[in-house]
Order: sequence, then structure tokens, then C-alpha cells
Amino acid sequence: MTLPSYHASAQAGYEPAPSRMKSALPALRAAERIPDDVGSVGVPVSEDGEVPTGFGLDRAALRAAGFEGKVGQTVVVPRAGGPTWVAVGVGERAKIDAAVLRDATATFARASGRHARIAVLLPDTASVLRLDAGAQAVAEGAVLARYRYRPFRHPENEQPLEALTVVGAAAAIDEIEDGLRRAEATTRAVELARDLANAPGTLLTARKMAEIAQAVAADTGLAIEIFDEEKLLELGCGGILGVNAGSQEPPRMIKLTYTPKPRATGTSVEPPSRVALIGKGIMYDSGGISLKPNDLVHAKMKADMSGAAAILGAMSTLSALGCECEVTGYLMCTDNMPSGSAMKLGDVLTIRGGKTVEVLNTDAEGRLVMADGLVLATEQKPQPDAIVDIATLTGACQRALGRQRAGVLGNDQALVSQVIAAADRTDERVWQLPLERRYRKELDSAIADLKNVGGDDAGAITAALFLEEFVADLPWAHLDIAGTAMKGDGDETFRSKGATGFGTRLLIDFLMNFAPPRATRH
Ligand code: BES
Ligand code: MN
Ligand code: ZN
Repeated sequence: MTLPSYHASAQAGYEPAPSRMKSALPALRAAERIPDDVGSVGVPVSEDGEVPTGFGLDRAALRAAGFEGKVGQTVVVPRAGGPTWVAVGVGERAKIDAAVLRDATATFARASGRHARIAVLLPDTASVLRLDAGAQAVAEGAVLARYRYRPFRHPENEQPLEALTVVGAAAAIDEIEDGLRRAEATTRAVELARDLANAPGTLLTARKMAEIAQAVAADTGLAIEIFDEEKLLELGCGGILGVNAGSQEPPRMIKLTYTPKPRATGTSVEPPSRVALIGKGIMYDSGGISLKPNDLVHAKMKADMSGAAAILGAMSTLSALGCECEVTGYLMCTDNMPSGSAMKLGDVLTIRGGKTVEVLNTDAEGRLVMADGLVLATEQKPQPDAIVDIATLTGACQRALGRQRAGVLGNDQALVSQVIAAADRTDERVWQLPLERRYRKELDSAIADLKNVGGDDAGAITAALFLEEFVADLPWAHLDIAGTAMKGDGDETFRSKGATGFGTRLLIDFLMNFAPPRATRH
């Protein structure tokens, strides 16, 4: 489709992923001293412990300025002829964790928005937090706080971050560099996911998403296979094809594969553990014939592919991070549009594998595209040790948990616990909801194997129960990120307004630490 020239998307010459992948990120450096060219220096200060020397203010002077070192407090100390110093509170010294440091540095980086080059003094957290993890968190906070989706903005007075220096003791430099290398991978991945979710729906079609995934895969050592309409028809993927029926744009299923380097123990080569990831890639969700009401929720629906974007971002880092687990990703991409050819209420779709679904609300489209992907994952030979799906699936999940916690549900507690642990470590918070099978009968259909909506209550749970029908009893966990994918109100710490990239860092951490939840492998 060629866009008319009045469309900003047509003028931008828009290439989000390749530019993000190659150049747009700030340089991350470790140093023993503050470089001469920085405009602003961040100094994390705890409530107890020592106040770092060098910026000329002691505890009493800070207190006099109303700064006690509490989490979230800042005080800006301008100095003639040198960089501005910003003290940022990190609370009690013994409680400084990665999340506290990430947030504090994000607050500092925002307060230093005029400066292209900034530095942070890494506090000595070694007793509570390893220095590499501290440096990683610091870099993530600063880089992600300064993220903006820029293709359509005139530069005005905002200053992109060009360089961040993490300052530490000589003996700590190697560890800091390790952390910064990981932060480079994780921040690139999150920025890619944010760029994709922030991109207008007319611009980022399923076809464009496939092109971008192809470029990312080529750059990051992933194998990729793209399934067009014809191939999806051959596979019998009636879920994604049904949802796509109303659209002018064809669907794409993007299959990504990461294969770790073989790992030898003694004389034998150990087979890797295997995870399959399925992402909801609704490029724009109008609701279809069950059209969404005329309000601003529509404007969020360009981000209804945030699950797919998080997987693409996460998988792009696996080779750089040396992940030891084999990972397959299925990105289920199409938009959901009303038109003369759209699926109708009462239509029955056949999902891959043969189960039939009566469509009683075309706005419950996510679960239809996810079902095809889940079945394909169960058919992999050898079967995956675990399946994790991620989707902006239900408004009900947002109602229940708000905008700071995603829902997690699953059929295997050991697996769900691994997801929760990754969420805690990355501060991409989740809360487990019960997979209450007593609600399963709400999905019974009079004419098909099941229908695509339950009753009025517990919508996040009935949506998960729908997905469970397609996982063939393999260990499976489901992340519902409807509430956390988009930040509607203003900027907050490292979460910039708009798409958050939620789930990207969580998935990276999960995959890096994955252990098969069931002793007996399939
Ligand atoms: N994409 C929406 C869910 C959503 C809502 C994401 C708000 C982000 C913010 C999903 O496709 C949807 O429309 N779900 C329906 C399901 C219902 C029809 C059973 C919902 O939540 O209302
Ligand atoms: Mn919908
Ligand atoms: Zn949707």
C-alpha cells in the first residue's frame, strides 16, 4: 500500500528497527574518573551511610536543602564552570537493589534532560547487590528514561542522550563493563519493542513487521521463517486468518529460532532445554464488527502487538548474551478490522489442529490468533519444555491489576514461579491469577468445541482458560500485559509515556535462567 503524501508516515522514510539496531543508542562507558565533557553527574545518596565526597555538600548541607536520601528525592547542585551535580535518593543502604538503582538513575537522567553526556557515580553496593548488576540497572534506568519515539517529532528542545559514563573504583571497572554490555543488549531490545508498539497502525502493518523482523534476525543471528496467507491456509491456521478476514492488509506469522552453541560436558554434548514463545501481534485492534466504542481506547490499539514486539526484542539479545536455551518465537501478526469481508458474530473458525471456535465477539480476537501459535508450538519436534505466551489480551486484566502489574496464569506452578522470579528481578511486575477451571464451562458453545468469550466476570481468567485448550498439557504460562504495555499518563522513572516495552527484559531474564519445570522431558 502506498500512503498519500499528507500522511506523516509516508514522509518519514521510516525505518525503526534498522536504525535502532545500529546507531541510535547512547555510548555506555565505565571509568574511574568523571570525564571532562559531561554536563551532569548523578550521585546516588542513601539515607544512612556515607555521602560521596567530591561535590562539596555533606549530609548536613543536604539535609538543610530538604534532602534526606529517601527514594525519589533529588536535589540539583549547579556549579560554576563544571558539571551540574544531582543527588538522588536511594533509601536505606541495605535495601538498595537493582530496581531502586534503575529508578533513581532514571529520575536523574530525566532531571538532566538538557545534557547529552552524563555520568553516574556507582554507589558501593557490593554487600547487597553485585556491581555488574548495579551498573546494568544504572544504564537501563538512564537510557530507557531518555527514550522518545522520535520519527515524527521536530527536535525542538529535547536532547537525546549520547553518552553515559558509570564511574567506579579501579578494581570495579571490569565488573561494571560486564554490566554495561548486558545493558546495551537489554536497552536496545526494549527500545526496539517500544518503537514498534509506538508506531502508528497504518505504518506498521504485519508485512512491515515481518520485514523488520527479517532485518533484526539477520543482525542478531536468528533463523526466521515468514508465513504469508497462503502458507497459513496450508497450515490450517483458521484463527489468524479469521481475524484477518476484514483487513486490506495480509497477515504474517513470523517464526524466529534461536539455537545456542552446543554445550559439551565431558564427552557428551548435552541437548539444550527448549522454550517456545507466542506473541500477540494485532497491529491495530478496532474490535472488528464488534467495533470498539468511539473513545481514546482506539488510540492505544496500535500497541496491541506489544507481546510480539517484546518477543522480537528479547530474542534479538540471546546470541549476544549467550543464552543456553533453544528458543522458538511465533509472532501472530494481523490487524483486526471491520469490513464487508470481516468475520461475523456466529461464524465458526477452525484453529490449527482442528478445534472449532464460535466467534461471539470479534473483539476477543487475540485468543484466536494465539491459539494457532500455541498449537504449532506443541507440534514442534522435539517438543518444547515450556511454552510462554505474552499478549495484550484483556481489559479485564487491566481492571483487576492496574497499570503496574501484568497478570500471569499457567498450568504448571514451577514454570509460573520462574516467570514471577524473572519479573521480580527485572522489576517488570506481575501477579498470579488463578486458572480457575470451574469457569471453563462459560466457554461451552452450542455449535462448536468452544466459544471465544466467557461471561461478564473474570475475563482475564476465561481468556487464559481459552488458551489452555490449545497447549496439549505442556507446561505453559500466559502473560496478560493489557494494562502494562502502554503508559497513558506522564513519564515515570524509566517508563516513558507511550509504549513501555513491558515484558522484554522479563523474557530475557526468564530465558537466561530457564530450567525445565518437569523432570521427565517429552
Ligand atoms: N486488545 C484488547 C485488550 C486490551 C484492552 C488491551 C485495553 C489493552 C488495553 C483485546 O483484544 C480485547 O478487545 N479484549 C476484550 C475481550 C472481550 C471482548 C471478551 C476486552 O478486554 O474487552
Ligand atoms: Mn480486541
Ligand atoms: Zn486485541
